[in-house]
Amino acid sequence: MSDLSYHKVRNAAVAPPDGCPVDHEFSPYSPRYIANPYAWLQQKRENEPVFYSEELQYLVVTRMEDVEEVFMNSEVFSSENVQNPVFSICDEAAEILAAEDYNPVAVMSNRQQPDHTRIRKYTQAGFSGRRMRVLEPIIRQRTEDLIDGMLAAGPPVEWVGAVGNPLTAETIFRLLGFPEKDDEQVKAWTNNRLEFTWGKTDKETQIQVAKSLLAYWRYVVDYVEMRRADPADDFTSELLAAHAENPDDLGYNEVQSVVYGLSFAGHEIVRNLISNALLCLLGERHNWTALCDDPSRIKDAIEEVLRFNSAQTSWRRVTTRDTEFRGYKLPKGTQVFLSLASANHDPRLFDNPERFDMDRANLRKHIAFGRGIHICLGRLLAKLEVRIVLELLTRKVPSLRLVIGQEQTFYPNFSFRGPKTLYLAWDE
Ligand code: HEM
Repeated sequence: MSDLSYHKVRNAAVAPPDGCPVDHEFSPYSPRYIANPYAWLQQKRENEPVFYSEELQYLVVTRMEDVEEVFMNSEVFSSENVQNPVFSICDEAAEILAAEDYNPVAVMSNRQQPDHTRIRKYTQAGFSGRRMRVLEPIIRQRTEDLIDGMLAAGPPVEWVGAVGNPLTAETIFRLLGFPEKDDEQVKAWTNNRLEFTWGKTDKETQIQVAKSLLAYWRYVVDYVEMRRADPADDFTSELLAAHAENPDDLGYNEVQSVVYGLSFAGHEIVRNLISNALLCLLGERHNWTALCDDPSRIKDAIEEVLRFNSAQTSWRRVTTRDTEFRGYKLPKGTQVFLSLASANHDPRLFDNPERFDMDRANLRKHIAFGRGIHICLGRLLAKLEVRIVLELLTRKVPSLRLVIGQEQTFYPNFSFRGPKTLYLAWDE
């Protein structure tokens, strides 16, 4: 695989920085962290805000000011590691991804300058405010159909399977232009990527996901070729038109790779954000009632969900050279775990951070979408989807509630947080 390959599947070990506290217990995969990352992070943020995790072999950064500083210094703290499996994958899975025709390249989240900005400028229009206004009625209609289906089936309902998952998958698939008939197959291929890249999985899962990634890449290659011959009103056709106009500036393989990457970036994380929003809002009834009484507050509520219970709790960087950070000498190649969850609960910025408060004056100061040149491309789309869901639910079913006694389980992983299932009920 070339240096630009989308996933690099082998990690080189780098010694912990001299003098940096080493934590032998901290683990985003542990039941303690999965149950409540915020309590553990709070204690670290106050006592050892920068430390080295023995399990991850990453430097962990927990305060807002520090996380921001790393994000803003993309020259020293590169994002080239963000799509690599956290743990090296087994030989058999690596072999599958060594197939000659498996050649997606880093295009945005893991691409470095100056190429990152060159490629990103072609993708901006697809996610602009103007484009969101065009998409809104289409997403609203599909959301309404799914919610009506759920209401017709009667309570209780398992939200993630009934609405959250199909809605967010289909939204990004329609934006890319994939034919509806392929939805189930594409969902199956793209489903397990989370475990593969950010989980700590067994050999069997790695092999199965590697096969899915290869099959999905081959699908993308055929699909982009089909769109080249038969353009439509979709984001893929727009990228292809940009490529046709500027073939030396936006490569064909880069178009394929943007399509490949976006189906992951835009799906499960939005599903999780919607579930987390329902947990925050229905978990404390006065929040839900406030939105039912005054839906104009939904936008503020979404910002507070992004701060309080974000769907993305961490992200990564790696040092491009020897450097110094908060008094520690970091060798080149030091991997960094940026705790967005911790930064979003930093009391230096947010008063009473463990309280969900959609009236807080600075609720837009969260770092849920990152900062700097790699700031989330899809943030308007994510907010649009959750806003439409909340507008429809508060209007159609104000008696919505969480089914009592259910326990949330989460996928153990390095970066993303959202319940596997969410049972809802309402008055009929
Ligand atoms: C709850 C929803 C979402 C959250 C919390 C989120 C969060 C993030 C974060 C933290 C980053 C990294 C920023 C950095 O490295 O500095 C990012 C980057 C990115 N996100 Fe999102 N994201 C969400 C939804 C989406 C959606 C819906 C899409 C597209 C359909 C998307 C596409 C991307 C892309 C392409 C990047 C890389 C941008 C670049 O490197 O230039 N995201 N996102």
